[in-house]
Amino acid sequence: MKNGTQRVPTTIEDYMKVLITGATGLLGRELFKEFSLDGRFDITGLGFSRAEPPIQKLDLLNASEVKEFVEKAQPDVIIHSAAERKPDISEKDPEATEALNVKATRTLLEAAQSVGAYIFYFSTDYVFDGTQPPYSIDAEPNPLNFYGKSKLEGEKVVLEDSQSIVLRVPVLYGPVETTDESPVSVIAENVKQRNSVKMDHWATRFPTFTPDVASVTRQLIIKRTEDPSLSGIFHWSGNEPMTKYDMAVAFAKHWDLPEDELIANSECPPGAPRPKNAQLDCSRLKDLGVGEQTDFSEVLKRLF
Ligand SMILES: NC(=O)c1ccc[n+]([C@@H]2O[C@H](COP(=O)([O-])OP(=O)(O)OC[C@H]3O[C@@H](n4cnc5c(N)ncnc54)[C@H](OP(=O)(O)O)[C@@H]3O)[C@@H](O)[C@H]2O)c1
Repeated sequence: MKNGTQRVPTTIEDYMKVLITGATGLLGRELFKEFSLDGRFDITGLGFSRAEPPIQKLDLLNASEVKEFVEKAQPDVIIHSAAERKPDISEKDPEATEALNVKATRTLLEAAQSVGAYIFYFSTDYVFDGTQPPYSIDAEPNPLNFYGKSKLEGEKVVLEDSQSIVLRVPVLYGPVETTDESPVSVIAENVKQRNSVKMDHWATRFPTFTPDVASVTRQLIIKRTEDPSLSGIFHWSGNEPMTKYDMAVAFAKHWDLPEDELIANSECPPGAPRPKNAQLDCSRLKDLGVGEQTDFSEVLKRLF
């Protein structure tokens, strides 16, 4: 039994009720899949414009509906993956970004607290300025763009509750519904179409496979049932440093296309400012024995 004032730890021997926001998105779809395959979880997936059964539609900007939904669902954990995650869009529309990334996060936290659930919040390496990698979980954030600032504000909201988990991840790639869902798919498409566009060779990224993040999330939630003190900030990331140009070269090799058609651009790219290298130190999760890192070349074989 749960109530609004007392947290009752759920053991994994009981099934756990998990609510996933953003379950129609790039990461959320993999989270929904990962948890659905584990019979110990009772999953509810939420989406918005793309919601179709089994995913339910709920506008996270509608606070009263969110609170009502959570009250009915009585989850043990709310995995909060929904966000505005495109830095250039965030820069152009800070109000809409703040509404989803910060205000809706507060609504969810309050709803979670009222039923004794905890929040598992996804954040980004863009909370760091990229000047002093690698970044430990307690390194001082200094976001360079509005997206990073809004995600950091969202972190602060959920961390008002000491039960919350924040998992920071860098650029994600995985199965997509449309090419523009991930910058990695955009690079793949450019290489495939042999568009000789300039590829960013300035920023070092650590492309991270969405099924790996979903697996790490499930592993961490299971660990948490064994040790309820596991909370606060965690980092997870792929382990291969790559610029967008490096990724393009990997795709060209994979498809046996000429690499000399690719143009490396070593200048800082235009648009919302981005960190040069915000490598995340993942040792807190590794020390717990939690992890999954699929090689970029392996993903190319599987997905492309
Ligand atoms: N993608 C990356 O490279 C990356 C990197 C670091 C961190 N992250 C973080 O990881 C998380 C997942 O990112 P993602 O790439 O999976 O995002 P995404 O593909 O853009 O998905 C965003 C999700 O948010 C939902 N959403 C948007 N507005 C909503 C609203 N008003 N009410 C309810 N749901 C709404 C969308 O639903 P509909 O599509 O159905 O409208 C969608 O499911 C985010 O927290 C992001 O900040 C992402």
